[in-house]
Amino acid sequence: MTSYFINIKSLNCILPKNTKSLRGKDLNNINSIENAFLIVENGLIADYGKMDNLSLPENTQYIDIKNKMIFPTWCDSHTHLVFATSREKEFEDRINGLTYEEIALKGGGILNSAKKLSEMDEEALFEGALNRIRELEKLGTGAVEIKSGYGLSIEGELKSLRVIQRLKKETRMSIKATFLGAHAVPNSYKNNRNAYIDLIIDEMLPIINSEKLADYIDVFCETNYYTPIETDKILRAGIAIGLKPKIHVNQFTSIGGIECGVENNALSVDHLEVMQEKDILKLQGSSTIPTLLPSCSFFLGIPYAPAKKLIEADLPIALATDYNPGSTPSGNMNFVVSLACIKMKLTPQQAINAATINGAAAMELNDKLGSITIGKKANFYITKPMENIAQIPYYFGNPQIEQVYLQGELIK
Ligand code: NIG
Ligand code: FE
Repeated sequence: MTSYFINIKSLNCILPKNTKSLRGKDLNNINSIENAFLIVENGLIADYGKMDNLSLPENTQYIDIKNKMIFPTWCDSHTHLVFATSREKEFEDRINGLTYEEIALKGGGILNSAKKLSEMDEEALFEGALNRIRELEKLGTGAVEIKSGYGLSIEGELKSLRVIQRLKKETRMSIKATFLGAHAVPNSYKNNRNAYIDLIIDEMLPIINSEKLADYIDVFCETNYYTPIETDKILRAGIAIGLKPKIHVNQFTSIGGIECGVENNALSVDHLEVMQEKDILKLQGSSTIPTLLPSCSFFLGIPYAPAKKLIEADLPIALATDYNPGSTPSGNMNFVVSLACIKMKLTPQQAINAATINGAAAMELNDKLGSITIGKKANFYITKPMENIAQIPYYFGNPQIEQVYLQGELIK
């Protein structure tokens, strides 16, 4: 099946096939063709170019999208979208003065979500997650990483990971699965945390390995959660069964999580709201992608990651949502891109690149997604009539998306 998109006002984020990620000056550049065509064949990008160079075969159907632009879909490399229920009670508690950490210490937070997930069967969990995926597709997201981490038991973690596998099969979204058994220490192991770490390593990981339930391993390396030494131990066990690390670090405190991630060749280190100079130095010269989650900062009222500094340090930052019921009940990448511009002072070009090709790199999908490139998946969105690409972040809260195509098919 071949589809022709013609008279495109501008076709954006065109990159050579071998581009892994963008940094430095390249991050601030969006390569576009004005008055362009795009040809999609069997779900892939088959060709593109200037309208002047298009010879449309006779009697061919085409889609005329004049006045509108085309962009590759967002690549959201950090979410926790498999969860049982919302947590607006904690939202109200924070409005009334409690902090995220105080709520967690009272048994709210991740442990609250784990209790709810243990009470929900796999089917209901799947349905909820599928609805969230459908909502993200309409918002222009075409690839998503999803973590477990609200199970915190063998049964709960496996249930979550199986839901992610089903989402992989039953949607057109490109999905990567991350095992986050070490998201918090369950209450029943409060006085024997080592036994829980052993459970992760000796019981959960072997099943995950034999059933191929995950692509990556994550740990919440943070004060009151997991220390860098514990993180290192869990990551090594994951690496031994082929899971690359993608970890939570420096959300509230800088305690050596970045060093631990880089030493273990993490694909990404995520959050980075609280950074020291040595953390940035550690990232330089590594292949680890710093992933920033501005809508988490927005929702919790915590600092924003020092995006400009990281760019000046020549690092290929990625932007993601962190979609989860506690710190970011939104998977809207359009809003993330707006916040990155408004609060982190990224240029629209930097933010869009960080949310597409660099997000794809943070899921090792950069050879298939994240740009307009011949041979990549035809995952793209058509904007509303638009004058300038800066209108994407400018109209915050109002996604400039009219239609979304995933693998060449229109999302209805
Ligand atoms: O990335 N920080 C750790 N995990 C999530 C929040 C989890 C929750 O509150 O449910 C995050 O912000
Ligand atoms: Fe997270």
